[in-house]
Amino acid sequence: MAKTETANEMKLGGAFTFPGTAVTVYRIGYGAMRLSGPQIFGPPKDRKEAVAVLREAVDAGVNHIDTSDYYGPHVTNHIIREALHPYPASLTVVTKLGARRGDDASWIPALTPAELRQGAHDNLRNLGVDALDVVNLRLMGNGHGPSEGSLAESFEALAELQRQGLIRHLGVSNVTAKQVEEAEKIAPLVCVQNFYNVAQRADDTLIDALAAKGIAYVPFFPLGGFTPLQSGTLNDVAARLKATPMQVALAWLLHRAPNVLLIPGTSTLAHLRENLATAEMRISAAEMKELDGMGRQS
Ligand SMILES: NC(=O)c1ccc[n+]([C@@H]2O[C@H](COP(=O)([O-])OP(=O)(O)OC[C@H]3O[C@@H](n4cnc5c(N)ncnc54)[C@H](OP(=O)(O)O)[C@@H]3O)[C@@H](O)[C@H]2O)c1
Repeated sequence: MAKTETANEMKLGGAFTFPGTAVTVYRIGYGAMRLSGPQIFGPPKDRKEAVAVLREAVDAGVNHIDTSDYYGPHVTNHIIREALHPYPASLTVVTKLGARRGDDASWIPALTPAELRQGAHDNLRNLGVDALDVVNLRLMGNGHGPSEGSLAESFEALAELQRQGLIRHLGVSNVTAKQVEEAEKIAPLVCVQNFYNVAQRADDTLIDALAAKGIAYVPFFPLGGFTPLQSGTLNDVAARLKATPMQVALAWLLHRAPNVLLIPGTSTLAHLRENLATAEMRISAAEMKELDGMGRQS
């Protein structure tokens, strides 16, 4: 491994190789959803800063970016392309399919095979690539949480796009453990992306089961998303560690399990720098236990 790679691995929380692939990413990545405008719709307030955030993330070693063509729609992918194309060979861009946007900024399910094919081609065109590195099938579920129901027809459509060479690797998002099992019977999974953070712990069992199989677990809303995490415990631990509460929330995730990959979202350079600095934080076993108290499901 080259010297820069070793240094980046230490700086970015270690490395993780997606199962059955030669694709390795650092554990601190970047979520690009916040690069679109308010309600994740339309252009951002400051496009120049959006481009700068992406470039600085990649310059700092980040090699895992999460996106979707329905952010904007198209806006986030256009900004990624403007900032980073031609992409470094080491960069993995993960996108998701399963929704489209209404003119009123609404989120409309787009899970039929035809809609998924269309979504894949939109991502290919707007990112400017011949194949998508990783695609998550994003189920609509119940808002930001999953609901049971077969994903077979939709996931088989993505497996077909993978056979055609348009998608390299597959994942699922907003899913139950049963849906993960169903997907695994159709095609190999490299990642699962669900709502999870120090206070939202419904997936504790699922994370451990995926860790045993070497499948990545990528929490969305790691900082609480549209409802930023707020807690006296986070504040107390942060004050002791001379860090911010958001850094503690990210550091807790890094310590939670080795298959947890971070994609915190931000539109600002200041927050990007803060989030990338998280790997340097050391949390003791006692502090982990204290933070665990914020949300462990019994
Ligand atoms: N699969 C799915 O269904 C799904 C759903 C939602 C999101 N995602 C993905 O997950 C990624 C992360 O989710 P997210 O961006 O919605 O939520 P998040 O990472 O939990 O939080 C982002 C929010 O926190 C703020 N923030 C970021 N860093 C901060 C810091 N250091 N201190 C204080 N505030 C900070 C951001 O505002 P500023 O812009 O002002 O920094 C933004 O409002 C997204 O970018 C997206 O790629 C996936």
